[in-house]
Amino acid sequence: MQQEELWDGDAARRYDTPGTGMFAPEVLGPTVDRLAALAGDGAALEFAVGTGRVAVPLAERGVPVTGVELSLPMIGRLRTKVDEATIPVVVGDMATSVVPGEFTLVYLVYNTISNLLTQAEQVECFRNAARHLTPGGRFVIELWVPELRQLPPGRTATVWQSEPGYIGLDTYDVLRQHVVSHHFSFDETHQAQLFRSPHRYIWPAELDLMAQLAGFELETRHADWAGTEFTAESRSHVSVYRIPPNR
Ligand SMILES: C[S@@+](CC[C@H](N)C(=O)[O-])C[C@H]1O[C@@H](n2cnc3c(N)ncnc32)[C@H](O)[C@@H]1O
Repeated sequence: MQQEELWDGDAARRYDTPGTGMFAPEVLGPTVDRLAALAGDGAALEFAVGTGRVAVPLAERGVPVTGVELSLPMIGRLRTKVDEATIPVVVGDMATSVVPGEFTLVYLVYNTISNLLTQAEQVECFRNAARHLTPGGRFVIELWVPELRQLPPGRTATVWQSEPGYIGLDTYDVLRQHVVSHHFSFDETHQAQLFRSPHRYIWPAELDLMAQLAGFELETRHADWAGTEFTAESRSHVSVYRIPPNR
């Protein structure tokens, strides 16, 4: 399934959960604090800006933000919050789309680099980030750590979240380094809703090599936006890559 088909009107309508989940202040607060500090006095570019979950509060902080996004319905939701002058968006693929302007920060959050399903596209995405940055500029990636330790030999699926009304289940194709996330939401009736998204998972070391191919150096890696130490047990990471200031 193509990403454009996945992020359709229905997905866009259901995406925002104001005040809870990925929209909770304890999630967004540290994210926006860190990104605003990394942008400094410059402008920021968000790859896969979606409905503006992060871009809108970052722009409200005074950071000029531009977006790239494939899905028109997701952009439609963003436009219910801010106009084109406040957050301009280029419709297109984050691996290849060129945006006018100069940026001190490009960021790609919420595991979205994994929505590119080949290694070649993921490397292109790094190259595209580098293309938009001024010397010394940074590319920030938020990504989960593949949970293959949960997968015993012979098993192809894991449940990564189970709570009242929701089950998150991943199915793996280890050979192609692909995983399909299945999000089941249900209530007291017999009806359930399923949202599925395909991903190419990436190990931190592979991500660093992609960055290196595009001219970046790893500046920092933490387990979250607040700067918690990244360890062998961390389930995800915030990695900051930098173009050397004197390139
Ligand atoms: C999980 S959402 C993240 C949206 C937003 N960044 C956030 O943090 O809420 C993933 C978004 O990536 C977009 N997307 C997926 N592949 C893309 C690509 N190749 N280029 C641009 N946008 C893409 C989807 O349309 C969707 O809006």
